[in-house]
Amino acid sequence: MKTAIVYHSSHHGNTKKLVDAIVAAHNDIAVFEAESCRPDDLSSFDLIGLASGIYYFSFDKSLLNIAVALPLHQRVFLLSTCGGNKLGLNYARKLEAVLSERQAEIVGHFSCLGYNTYGFFKLFGGTAKGHPDDDDLRHAIAFYESLRG
Ligand SMILES: Cc1cc2nc3c(=O)[nH]c(=O)nc-3n(C[C@H](O)[C@H](O)[C@H](O)COP(=O)(O)O)c2cc1C
Repeated sequence: MKTAIVYHSSHHGNTKKLVDAIVAAHNDIAVFEAESCRPDDLSSFDLIGLASGIYYFSFDKSLLNIAVALPLHQRVFLLSTCGGNKLGLNYARKLEAVLSERQAEIVGHFSCLGYNTYGFFKLFGGTAKGHPDDDDLRHAIAFYESLRG
């Protein structure tokens, strides 16, 4: 199975840690930064991971732009890190809507906490300090392996 992961990770590199851990465990995965990824780069994969920190309640816009241009009926999985989600919001909502237009099959979404020092939170040392931690990375790898079967 040919897998690619496209990621955006601009705050503390939290999401990239998940991607790096999965790729270190499975070195046959192609990796692209969302900003420099072109639609043609993704034309030949069985499974595509879209990975992002959560910014203003959503995956980064660069991932939404990637999703718009995916081949129809693509199998997709999602990876995300966020500072906290006490309200149980669905941060993937916008991305899921775009993927639905592409008739993509979303096979799973792994999400965990990621160190957050945005704005006001910086004044108090941030939230989710130390995340993703080793357990988070192990769970991310196990999640990916569950998709491969
Ligand atoms: C501009 C900005 C907006 C953010 N908005 C949210 C948010 O809406 N909800 C949340 O839980 N975390 C939010 N965070 C925290 C990030 O989602 C979290 O730190 C994430 O792990 C960052 O991933 P990265 O290091 O891969 O960029 C925000 C962070 C930044 C910098």
